[in-house]
Amino acid sequence: MKNQVSVSILSADFLELKTEIDKIEKSNADMLHFDVMDGVFVPNISFGFPILETVNKYTDMHLDVHLMIINPVDYIEQCVRCGADTVTIHLECDSDIAQTIKMIKKSGVKAGLSIKPSTPFESVIPYLDKIDMLLIMTVEPGFGGQSFISDMLNKISSAKKYIDEHNLNVSIQVDGGINEKTGKLASDAGADILVAGSYIFKNGSVTEAVASLAGQ
Ligand code: DX5
Ligand code: ZN
Repeated sequence: MKNQVSVSILSADFLELKTEIDKIEKSNADMLHFDVMDGVFVPNISFGFPILETVNKYTDMHLDVHLMIINPVDYIEQCVRCGADTVTIHLECDSDIAQTIKMIKKSGVKAGLSIKPSTPFESVIPYLDKIDMLLIMTVEPGFGGQSFISDMLNKISSAKKYIDEHNLNVSIQVDGGINEKTGKLASDAGADILVAGSYIFKNGSVTEAVASLAGQ
């Protein structure tokens, strides 16, 4: 089965963002992945909603926003107003998870829930019937360019098994250290959407890199 590919602009050349987005649009990528970091939930600060809003004016692509922030409930409205099509929050954040998911869904966009490598799959079970996407982090959130943690393959398989057995309409997204090889492993384990940043931008051709992930 074909995977969907969400391209993380964290590894793009920000000075050439327009050209980078043109390249992503011309490839067969399904989504643009935005990593928003607040320096509290993760030890890094990336970019925020003004960039999302600007990109949203330029492209019709699906904007897949990954909020690595401590209190997402306070920013859902702004995030959706700036163009997010999917908003993903972390189970480990300080906001009330059920309330924040409800707020995302009420805004008319897709809701994602993400777990860090140390968080077991079982902790998201109470929310699976309320979300559209489960994001399984395959690196510690905070930085691009890290190596895929292969222990996460079991977590992906458990999630896939549970979702299938319970007939849930939840896609499994994986994020971190995805390249042609790890993308195939994740896909074989049950991932539907592969997020990739450095593999896409450090590989010469965006189109070829996206195709190599999508075609598995
Ligand atoms: C890490 C981010 C990822 C990151 C992936 O916290 O959530 O989306 O951009 O980068 P690569 O593909 O380089 O691991
Ligand atoms: Zn991400």
